[in-house]
Amino acid sequence: MPLEEDWDLPDPDEIMRSESKHEWISEPRYKKMFDDIEDALQGVMGRGKFEWVDRRVFDQVFDRSTLLALHKLMQQENIETIDYPIARGKEAHVFRASSQKGPLAVKIFHTTNAVFKGLAKYIDGDPRFSGLSRRHRELVNIWVRKEFRNLKRMRKSGLRVPEPMFNLKNVLVMEFIGDEDSPSPRLKDIDVENPLSVFEDLLEIAAVIWQTCDLVHADLSEYNILWYDEYPWVIDAGQAVTTRHPNAKEFLVRDVTRLTDWINRKGYEIQVADSLVRVLDGPVPNLSENSSGD
Ligand SMILES: Nc1ncnc2c1ncn2[C@@H]1O[C@H](COP(=O)(O)OP(=O)(O)OP(=O)(O)O)[C@@H](O)[C@H]1O
Ligand SMILES: [Mg+2]
Repeated sequence: MPLEEDWDLPDPDEIMRSESKHEWISEPRYKKMFDDIEDALQGVMGRGKFEWVDRRVFDQVFDRSTLLALHKLMQQENIETIDYPIARGKEAHVFRASSQKGPLAVKIFHTTNAVFKGLAKYIDGDPRFSGLSRRHRELVNIWVRKEFRNLKRMRKSGLRVPEPMFNLKNVLVMEFIGDEDSPSPRLKDIDVENPLSVFEDLLEIAAVIWQTCDLVHADLSEYNILWYDEYPWVIDAGQAVTTRHPNAKEFLVRDVTRLTDWINRKGYEIQVADSLVRVLDGPVPNLSENSSGD
């Protein structure tokens, strides 16, 4: 049974439909900026793998603060155009973009979910909740900065991860992993020629992350590994934590278990314990800083 006061809460879907959400766009001080961005976004809506024609999807990704951040990145010529969506996840949308220096991947983290957003205006003016949405936003920004730093640290240790390039608010701009036509596939989506040697590479990567970077990825699996140029590339490092984190070992066991499950699905019978020993105590190569793409 819902609490009685729940009955008074507005239906978020109703708000989304009825609210004139784009009023701010026609304010003179935003109008020009929005036009610029819509030019730069040309082709993104309604193209690619997903249905972007739904205005609500657009709203979910491109709120005012995000548009401002993108606009700034464009003014600074760090991004020229946003070309097409690559993927959408629960926490972020990833786009292929272009700059004068070449292709980019732009990961835009959702600052709120649609429901929260629909309710935000009821919360914003209420002194009991003041600062709530700002704090939420700030948490997302910290998360994005964390992903930036984690990627930097992994690259410094010579690992193949996309080079983080710019970060503004909830927008992370990084090296695009893929070729002219498309982003690289995830390990999950392909059959590699020699899975066992790929598995050994993956354990070596996990070992370098743990022993050299003093980090644990904490979401390492065939979903967050791209296959590019005959090598595995690790992505999605927002949740990575240092080895001193109280749950670090638990996260490591989970990562190694997932990698081991992957290889065992290819017909092998590898023990998680052996893989774990390899990652914790096995030799790590002394890789020089990854400067590919520079
Ligand atoms: N640098 C990149 N180059 C090319 N493609 C990328 C890059 N970064 C991310 N992608 C693509 O975008 C997808 C989502 O990226 P990522 O895993 O970082 O975001 P996420 O929101 O955590 O997604 P999920 O919730 O699905 O894990 C990836 O699976 C990959 O296909
Ligand atoms: Mg991911």
